[in-house]
Amino acid sequence: MERIAIRDRLNMAVATQYYADHEEGRISIENLNMVYETDKGDKVTALTDVNLEIESGSFVSLLGPSGCGKTTLLRIIADLITPTSGSVSVGGMSPTQARMARKLGMVFQSAVLYDWRSVLKNVEMPLEIMHLPKGERRDRAEHMLEMVGLKDFAHRYPYELSGGMQQRVSIARALAVNPGILLMDEPFSALDEFTREKLHDDLLGIWKENKMTIVFVTHNISESVYLSDKVVVMSPHPGRVSAVLDISLNRPRCAQMRETEEYYDYIAEIRSDFEGV
Ligand SMILES: Nc1ncnc2c1ncn2[C@@H]1O[C@H](COP(=O)(O)OP(=O)(O)OP(=O)(O)O)[C@@H](O)[C@H]1O
Ligand SMILES: [Mg+2]
Repeated sequence: MERIAIRDRLNMAVATQYYADHEEGRISIENLNMVYETDKGDKVTALTDVNLEIESGSFVSLLGPSGCGKTTLLRIIADLITPTSGSVSVGGMSPTQARMARKLGMVFQSAVLYDWRSVLKNVEMPLEIMHLPKGERRDRAEHMLEMVGLKDFAHRYPYELSGGMQQRVSIARALAVNPGILLMDEPFSALDEFTREKLHDDLLGIWKENKMTIVFVTHNISESVYLSDKVVVMSPHPGRVSAVLDISLNRPRCAQMRETEEYYDYIAEIRSDFEGV
């Protein structure tokens, strides 16, 4: 009798852990609307009735033309702005709670680095804010730089690095706090194609290693197909979700896949979603 009770308790503990792991990086968005008020008092509808489920540990792209509300949606998830109406749950919490609990990391289009701080000191920055002891801070920052392939550049300054390298530093910095969710707003759009494709593979490697959720904003169709489990197609005037497509290309993804029929089919399918928008 006692044995069964212990087994039940164990099962419950396992189930609770499973539930926790599966909730940790989940993002649920329901009936979300965002209306900006401009300085002149005009109203701009940026998002209308957005409903979206992003599973924990998945790689999801938000894809669409300029002005369809991609950045707005990312900023709402990151708690940088408050929506006009609707609900957003980030790992079972409100965006504010998730931000306070440091569940979120963010990478912007251009790397926002402090030029007077070395690369290592830039990555240590969020850990300083968390008051982590110096030794631990250093170890963690060095590990992150190793992960993004910049171990040998730790003592350089941002202005001594290329754009691609700077963007790697900002990824390392966002990952330093070990966030369950990484939000990326067109992180590679300013880079040349060679660098971008290299960073795609690096990012997928980091994602696999860290098992986090990534929400990746882009207006590049092939980039979204190559990286994602799911592509959320958005359209403008007003910004809304117009289609959600599952990408079932095998993982790990590799450069040869960019030449396959399956890959081109996905691109063609998404292109057709945009026709008539
Ligand atoms: N602070 C703001 N005040 C007023 N309107 C805004 C503000 N921020 C964004 N908008 C408007 O909201 C809409 C969506 O903007 P958003 O920046 O989210 O688009 P986006 O899809 O990220 O575009 P892009 O691809 O050009 O970055 C646009 O019409 C934009 O003009
Ligand atoms: Mg944007």
